Amino acid sequence: MMNFQGSHILSVSQFDRDAIARILDVSAQMAPYAARQKRCHVLDGAILNNLFFEPSTRTRVSFGTAFNLLGGFVRETVGEENSSLSKGESLYDTAQVISGYSDVIAMRHPKMHSVAEFAEGSSVPVINGGDGANEHPTQALLDLFTIQSEMSRFDKGLDNLDIVLMGDLKHGRTVHSLSKLLSLYKNVKVTMVSPNALQMPDSVLSTLDNAGHQVVVTDKIAGSLACDVIYQTRIQQERFESKEEADLYRGHFSLNKQVYQQYCKNHTVIMHPLPRDSRPEANELDTDLNELENLAIFRQAQNGVLVRMALFALTLGVENSLKDYERPVNWYTNKG
Ligand code: NCD
Repeated sequence: MMNFQGSHILSVSQFDRDAIARILDVSAQMAPYAARQKRCHVLDGAILNNLFFEPSTRTRVSFGTAFNLLGGFVRETVGEENSSLSKGESLYDTAQVISGYSDVIAMRHPKMHSVAEFAEGSSVPVINGGDGANEHPTQALLDLFTIQSEMSRFDKGLDNLDIVLMGDLKHGRTVHSLSKLLSLYKNVKVTMVSPNALQMPDSVLSTLDNAGHQVVVTDKIAGSLACDVIYQTRIQQERFESKEEADLYRGHFSLNKQVYQQYCKNHTVIMHPLPRDSRPEANELDTDLNELENLAIFRQAQNGVLVRMALFALTLGVENSLKDYERPVNWYTNKG
């Protein structure tokens, strides 16, 4: 079993099935705290530094919220222009300094492998919140947690899953990480729906192939969506040369209620890492899907808090002490 305490979390490749089962199990134990049924102050006094050098809503705020829910303090640097990286400081030097101020660091950066480079200079665990088009391991873990919990409604699990990944599969780091994690399970069928120019990188396809899974690559929605889970993604405009180039691919695979009813199964669950691009020319997931019980996108975003709480507890070695640090909730809450 992987030893989490003191470890960086940089890539999903560092996990095996047992490690993932442990993360998902500890995540589930966080539910009463996230639902404000109880508090847990096991990280009282600990400091998280959130370093976000690319736009972020969910990842940044849920990392911070997760740490606060365990009793820790959060400091935040947002935007490279507000950091000495813009004065030419190296990632290594920044890591040496910030890790001296922290117990754990979460970082997002536009360059592939930059978070691993940063981690080399850090004396505390570093958690990758997305490094360019490379990986987004914590998102993939919360996606897996979501698939597991959504599929349990239909007596299904992570094995024998029939999943469609759709949209910008070339630049989408969440689908890169998720595909690698899915390759660890049994008898997975993955259908990759994207414009030809935005296909899943070969290295990711071969991870699934080598694990013996069925992989279908297509640019057609018709006939492709009768599955357990559709995982829609955004055209990653920031990874293109220009907005005009990204515009060429916007709106190809919009999903709305009519498309859902025509092509999906009754139980097909819809996921998206968010943000969804709701501009009319993209309209990735139409708001007319909001009324469907199988639209899991906001439950998925909520699960990010649980999984990030679990990762903090595991990397800081307190996952077995949660109960010892519980307290009642004193304020009005309608969450539980
Ligand atoms: C994703 C990301 O940043 O990779 N967002 C997220 O973290 N939930 C997906 C995206 O931006 O399209």
